Amino acid sequence: LFAMGTGAAHAEYPEHPITLVVPFAAGGPTDVVARSLGAELGKILKQPIVVENKTGAGGTVAAAHIANSKPDGYTFFLHHNGMATAPALYKNLKFDPLNSFEYVGEVVDVPMTLLARADFPPNNLQEFIEYAKQNADTINLANAGPGAVSQLCGSLLQQAIDTKFTTIPFQGTGPAMTALLGKQVDILCDQTTQTIPHIDAKTVKFYGVTTKDRISKLPDAPTLDEQGLKGFDFKVWHGIYAPKGTPEPVITKFNGALKEALKSEPFKKKMADLGAEIVSEERQTPESLKNWVDAEIKKWGPILQAEGMNVN
Ligand code: MLT
Repeated sequence: LFAMGTGAAHAEYPEHPITLVVPFAAGGPTDVVARSLGAELGKILKQPIVVENKTGAGGTVAAAHIANSKPDGYTFFLHHNGMATAPALYKNLKFDPLNSFEYVGEVVDVPMTLLARADFPPNNLQEFIEYAKQNADTINLANAGPGAVSQLCGSLLQQAIDTKFTTIPFQGTGPAMTALLGKQVDILCDQTTQTIPHIDAKTVKFYGVTTKDRISKLPDAPTLDEQGLKGFDFKVWHGIYAPKGTPEPVITKFNGALKEALKSEPFKKKMADLGAEIVSEERQTPESLKNWVDAEIKKWGPILQAEGMNVN
């Protein structure tokens, strides 16, 4: 692996392509980050990064798969908030976010946006809230299942406006967006890494951004908070993991490549165009990611349990 064996010269890690697992469908927002990052990591590590979409149960199928994968330095995992919310949502989880993985580092923060199908009657958040209160039982909210940020954002929205929609789960918000564009579902809360092109093309209705402050990519777009949903403040964070036991020199090399990729012009431009923010250098470390996951488990556990959101 890393200068393995004795005597004869050995090639340095990595010697063959590396798999980067994404827990949601191809074409969706997490996939976009993984493929853009993978392209840069591949150049730096001089081996292709092969993105594999392993979907199911709001990202927990992929996380369990990683927890049980060979720690040989050829399997990595990109996941978001779902890593920290899963323990409160799933009683029979087949992995432990704090003990089943090696941590590599944080990657990007991504705001979310509340969208509706293009022909949905309400034209802005105020109209949407009134419409939602009168027609809640007819409204279909698309998401990517418990553990998905689209689901969490949708739950926070229903809580904020004190109503309940019918939720339609998909294997990722890539297919959920296809359903929204096809007018098969009514609303979707999703990351800007997927939604900005649709907002720009006006192929969806757009009611606001989920962060406390407006975002520089959409300076004219009001936040949900400023339109009356006081205190609404939610954004997505992404980190990279490896199976527990992956050798430390491998993690160090991959982390070095991650730091370099996060500075590369193509990745910076792609993320800026999609409203995502590359995390500060202090956050690009294994320690920072682990501390963050720990803090997020402590933050969301009680909230999700109080909401009775656990699924099994
Ligand atoms: C995706 O990549 O499909 C989304 O991140 C799923 C989600 O809403 O969490």
